[in-house]
Amino acid sequence: MHDFKYKKNKLYCENIKVEDLAKKFSTPLYVYSYHTLIDHYLKLESAFSEINPLICYSVKANSNLSILKALIAQGAGLDIVSGGELFRAQKAACPAQRIVYASVGKTDQEISAAIGRGILFFNVESLAELKNINRIAQGLNKITRVAIRINPDVEAKTHKYISTGKITNKFGIDLDGAYKILLLRAKFKNLNICGLHIHIGSQITRSAPFVQAIKKVSNFIQRLKSQGIALEYLNIGGGLGIIYDQEAPQTAQIYANEIIPLLKKTGLKIIMEPGRFIMGNAGILVVKVLYIKHTPKKKFIIVDGGMNDLIRPALYGAYHQILPVRYPLNAKRYMQKADIVGPICESGDFLAKERLMAKVKEGDYLAVMGAGAYGFSMSSNYNSRLRAAEVMVVKDKAVVIRKRETCEDLIRNEII
Ligand code: LLP
Repeated sequence: MHDFKYKKNKLYCENIKVEDLAKKFSTPLYVYSYHTLIDHYLKLESAFSEINPLICYSVKANSNLSILKALIAQGAGLDIVSGGELFRAQKAACPAQRIVYASVGKTDQEISAAIGRGILFFNVESLAELKNINRIAQGLNKITRVAIRINPDVEAKTHKYISTGKITNKFGIDLDGAYKILLLRAKFKNLNICGLHIHIGSQITRSAPFVQAIKKVSNFIQRLKSQGIALEYLNIGGGLGIIYDQEAPQTAQIYANEIIPLLKKTGLKIIMEPGRFIMGNAGILVVKVLYIKHTPKKKFIIVDGGMNDLIRPALYGAYHQILPVRYPLNAKRYMQKADIVGPICESGDFLAKERLMAKVKEGDYLAVMGAGAYGFSMSSNYNSRLRAAEVMVVKDKAVVIRKRETCEDLIRNEII
C-alpha cells in the first residue's frame, strides 16, 4: 500500500498534487509520503508483535534525518554501516542501545566512535575484525558486545549485486569459522559475543531463502546451546522485497507466519533490519521532460533527472514504473515506446528503456515510482549536478527535508 494515487487524472501524494509540488519546489525532486513509511513500519511491527523484535531500520536505504527521526519516534532502532551513519543516528537522537553496526570494513576510528557511543552491538564480519574490535575495546577499557555475522551459504534469488549470503560473497563468516571463534571466545577478553547475524540479500520476494537461512542458524544455535554456549540475540537482517513491477512479494504477515515459529525456537531476542520494505514505495522521484528526441531508430524522452539522482536502473537494470503526474485523457489511444533518459554524458544514463507509456510532451512532469529506498541515498554529484531536494508530505502539508544543493555546495571542500 502506498499513498501515491491518481484522483481524476492527477497524481497525488497523500492530499497534495504532485504537479503542485514539482512547480513549487522544482525538479528533480524526491517526494516522500509520511503516512506510507509509518504504515510500512507498523505493518512489520504488528506482523511480528508476538515476538516483539527490535526493528532496526537500515539507514542506507534512505538516511535523511527526518525519516530517521520519524521511525525512531515509532520505537525503531537503526542498522548502520559507517561512521557517517553513526553520526546521523546521533543527530536523529537514536538511543545508542537501539543501534547495530554491520560492514566488512569498519575502520579503527569508526569502531572507537561506536564503542564510545555504547551501541547495542557490532555485527562482525571476519576474524580479523573481531580481533581488531577486541584490541580497540581493550585500549578504551571497555567490554563491547558483538554478534557474529554468519554467511549461511544460501541462494537469495535476487540480483547478483545485492545477494550477500553465498559463501563466495565477501560478507559474514562460515558456520565452521564461527564455531571455532565461539569455542575461543574466552580469548577475546574485551568482547561479549552475544549474538548471531544474517543478512542474505535484498529485494527477496519469496520467504524460502529466509527460512532456509534461519533454519541453518537456528540449528547452529541449538548446537552451541548443547555445548553451553549461550547467546542473547539473533539478528535476521533485512531483504524483504517490494513491488516495483509485476512482483508478488511475501507480505509482512506471510513472512512473519513462516519464520516466527523458527525464531521462537531459538529463545533469543530478535532484531531485524528492513530498509526497502519501509521506504521503497514511500518515495518517488519527480522529473521534468526537457526534450523529446526522435532518431532514425528510437524515441528518447530526455528528462532533468539522471543516473546521478537514481542509479538503480543504470547499476542493476532495475525497473521503476514511470507515470505522468497528469495522466492524458484517453491515454490508451496515445501510447508510445521510448527510452527515458537523463542529461548525463553516458549511455548508461537511463531511467527506462523501450518503455511503453502514455504520450507526454516537453514541460510535462513524470513520477519515477518506488524511488524511496536507495534513491537519494545513492545519488551523487556526477557531472557536477546538484543533488535533488527532498520533500516530505504529511496529509496536506509538504515540508522540505533537504534543500536542493547549490553550486557553492559543489565546491565547498575544494582548495585552489
Ligand atoms: N542489513 C544489512 C546488513 C544490509 O546490508 C542491508 C542492505 C539491509 C539490512 C537492508 O536491506 P533491505 O531491507 O533494504 O533489502 N542498493 C541496492 C540495495 C543494496 C542493499 C544493501 N544492503 C538496491 O538499490 O537495490
